[in-house]
Amino acid sequence: MPPDLFDNLSPLKQPDASAPVQEQLDWLRQEIRKHDYLYYVKDRPAISDGEYDRLFKCLSDLEAAHPELITDDSPTQRVGAPPLAALGKVTHERPMLSLDSIVNQADVLAFDQRMKRELEHQQIEYTVEPKFDGLSIELVYERGRLVRGSTRGDGTTGEDVTINLRTIRSLPLHLRNDAFPPERLAVRGEVYMKLDDFQGLNRAMTERGDEAFANPRNAAAGSLRQLDSNIAAARPLVVTCYEIMALSTEPPDSHWSELDALAEWGLPIPIPSHRRRCQTIEEVIAFHREIEQVRDNLPYEIDGLVVKVNRRDLQEQLGFKSRSPRWAIAFKFVPRKEITVVQNIVVSVGRTGTLTPVALLRPVEVGGVTISRATLHNADEVARKDIRAGDTVKVERAGDVIPAIAERIPVPGEARPAPFAMPGQCPVCGSAVGREGAYYYCTGQLGCSAQLKGAIEHFASKQALNIDGLGKKTIAQLVEHHLVGSLADLYRLTRDRLLPLEGFAEKSTALLLDAIAQSKTVSLDRFLLGLGIRQVGQHIAKVLTKEFGTLDAIMNADDARLLTVKEIGPEISSSLVSYFREAANRRAIAQLRELGMAIVEQAGPAPPESLPLAGKIFVFTGGLDLFSRDDAKALVERLGGTISSSVSKRTSFVVAGHDPGSKLDQAQKLGIAVLTEEAFSELVKKETAG
Ligand code: IVH
Repeated sequence: MPPDLFDNLSPLKQPDASAPVQEQLDWLRQEIRKHDYLYYVKDRPAISDGEYDRLFKCLSDLEAAHPELITDDSPTQRVGAPPLAALGKVTHERPMLSLDSIVNQADVLAFDQRMKRELEHQQIEYTVEPKFDGLSIELVYERGRLVRGSTRGDGTTGEDVTINLRTIRSLPLHLRNDAFPPERLAVRGEVYMKLDDFQGLNRAMTERGDEAFANPRNAAAGSLRQLDSNIAAARPLVVTCYEIMALSTEPPDSHWSELDALAEWGLPIPIPSHRRRCQTIEEVIAFHREIEQVRDNLPYEIDGLVVKVNRRDLQEQLGFKSRSPRWAIAFKFVPRKEITVVQNIVVSVGRTGTLTPVALLRPVEVGGVTISRATLHNADEVARKDIRAGDTVKVERAGDVIPAIAERIPVPGEARPAPFAMPGQCPVCGSAVGREGAYYYCTGQLGCSAQLKGAIEHFASKQALNIDGLGKKTIAQLVEHHLVGSLADLYRLTRDRLLPLEGFAEKSTALLLDAIAQSKTVSLDRFLLGLGIRQVGQHIAKVLTKEFGTLDAIMNADDARLLTVKEIGPEISSSLVSYFREAANRRAIAQLRELGMAIVEQAGPAPPESLPLAGKIFVFTGGLDLFSRDDAKALVERLGGTISSSVSKRTSFVVAGHDPGSKLDQAQKLGIAVLTEEAFSELVKKETAG
């Protein structure tokens, strides 16, 4: 190991106030960089948070007094870049290749044989390090300064994510001066999120009503590809570097010394206990086994180890195939599977009455997560996998996806109960069960408390009536205490009825009642959506609103009339007709109206040419922070514009929120104007005012 230069900490706690300002600034920046490195990379802080904060404040104050001396590699400059309209493109120093991967020991042995044969060596030294399950990036440092960072993209060109990478505290904005950084360095690394941080982020997102990320990898990718670096800054990203891609001086002669060099310049590399230099392939296999055993205790996800021929000259001799180096291989871990027992199969009832079989499992830990339930989807699936109560099964969790039963493991001589059968009566309300193909459903409608709860949840949801504070738990209480037996009952709730419920204090009661009262004024499309009519989602609700303008017109439309509408087919029309034919549904709507529900109907389309956005076609991609998607779309429509779901030459604007999808690429390809959410907001504000 090279000596740790950062151990030479200054005994001083503040700069020498009599020195020239530039010297004080240099001293402070160097000192803060050291402590960042010790804290974020070495996990070995040398000063208290308070002392660090004082240094940082000292630097900020000095910079505020001398703004002309601020440099972009100062520790104070990690955030604050203005949001981008789109991420720029970067061509990599050289193609960012991928790795061939293997899982079996036999394949590793074959890899070793191949290396020995091609190099005509008896013995080869390997470096083994984690295969981080994150997002591959390239970083470029010029004269010690971080000048650019980009995603891998297609391997040749990626996206410029410099402003977001700059917010990652473990990533130095400046290499260590005392380690003589090269004139130019391009390095490859991986950006990822630690499991704890990922879970914390998801918790916060769901509390805010945002959709949670499926796994740490997606969370890291979504955070890194933000247009607004303030969002990235709030996301707990980390980075590890593992490969020099370009260097202005003679490169180190082995992968191992390459990692050491990176560390000396202050870059984060895999920690010592997670990498090893192995003299034989048997040592590689043993290390793989060792790490696989502790894999679930690691603070981050790894999906295997990367085995690299250590010596650079040998790497060069081996060279590359089209997409991967010959001298390295990903030695993956087998997917996480555990064996457990199905204790019972129960049936859950969803919002529309669908019955779903669910396996209750003897709790088992799969990849650090305890699993006690797994969905069996539908009756056909249960029959196909032949799962019965008491069976021994293999459960699987790949990445962070929902657990599933992979297969049943037959146990010789076991006595099994009769095959699982769907119940003839709803397990919640006892109503008869109907059937359509593999799907079974409860016919009890809102008389079934499971369906009632689901219907209220849907009615109150963001896209529909948007009643804040009416979540799953509250709804369950309202239904179970018989305070709400229909949608209309929501508008009959009073303070006196709510207060005795668990978790209801004066304030929360007042807030909920207020939110319910506010929801009484609602646009027709939201109201239609909220009714939860089968086949009528957000889009169809809008189509109906546009076509018919009033609720009565929709309620009275027959099949023939509905089928004249372009986007409405026989399934939707028959669902609508049968819904509105039902006396109970008509009564429910009448009751809502009697209780003061004001459905804002559309009197028919306004003459389009008179509106400011007439003729303009908007496409949205990515998540919005200032508006809900629906509100943004409603604004455009109100101003005469139209919304399309795909980008074409006719598109006028693409509005790119955070984590934009391929629509953004398409817009750039076609040269269509791209608006950030802020720019969009300005535009509509201006048009609304004008
Ligand atoms: S070496 C030419 N080392 O795994 C060298 N890759 O397809 C190529 N990865 O997306 C990469 N940890 O981003 C290397 N320690 C590591 C790695 C690593 C993760 C990723 C890499 C790539 C994928 C392989």
